[in-house]
Amino acid sequence: MAQIHAAAFLQDRSWTASEISDLLVSPLITAFHETGGFSLTRLIAGEAELLTIAVDPAYQNQGIGRRLMNRWLAIGADTAFLEVAADNSAAIALYQNLGFQQIGVRRRYYQRKDGLAVDALTLSKTLTRGHSPDSTP
Ligand SMILES: CC(C)(COP(=O)(O)OP(=O)(O)OC[C@H]1O[C@@H](n2cnc3c(N)ncnc32)[C@H](O)[C@@H]1OP(=O)(O)O)[C@@H](O)C(=O)NCCC(=O)NCCS
Repeated sequence: MAQIHAAAFLQDRSWTASEISDLLVSPLITAFHETGGFSLTRLIAGEAELLTIAVDPAYQNQGIGRRLMNRWLAIGADTAFLEVAADNSAAIALYQNLGFQQIGVRRRYYQRKDGLAVDALTLSKTLTRGHSPDSTP
């Protein structure tokens, strides 16, 4: 997972294997895996949070990100939320296509390796428990 994260997030500090292992100890955390990609998610009191999602560039644009999202959205939560960098057009398109809407913005939330500070958009989606994935496999 750390290798995929580093390959996918070139502009950001990548998460180390030990940081990821520490997260996985928690019963609140669920990891989803597909070939070339993974997500880490947290479920607390009906609220599902996407901590990270990453698809290795060699595997992108093949529907893996969408599959990971749909598996997470079927986790049985009432609402789902996530944060995304305001300049991450690929991820924003993915989330909007799945029905997420912007509910907030955190100014200069992400610090890039090059020192640039980028806003985070907070997106949310109301779920019916047992969300049906969209029609795309
Ligand atoms: C965002 C990310 C997870 C998408 O994964 P993916 O497997 O390439 O995405 P998919 O092939 O499932 O694409 C699903 C949808 O996402 C959107 N999308 C994906 N890549 C896109 C791109 N380069 N430009 C615009 N939209 C894009 C499209 O809406 C696409 O639907 P479509 O194929 O019907 O047009 C992947 O690009 C990634 O790992 N990026 C780097 C890490 C990252 O930014 N993670 C999110 C942090 S919040």
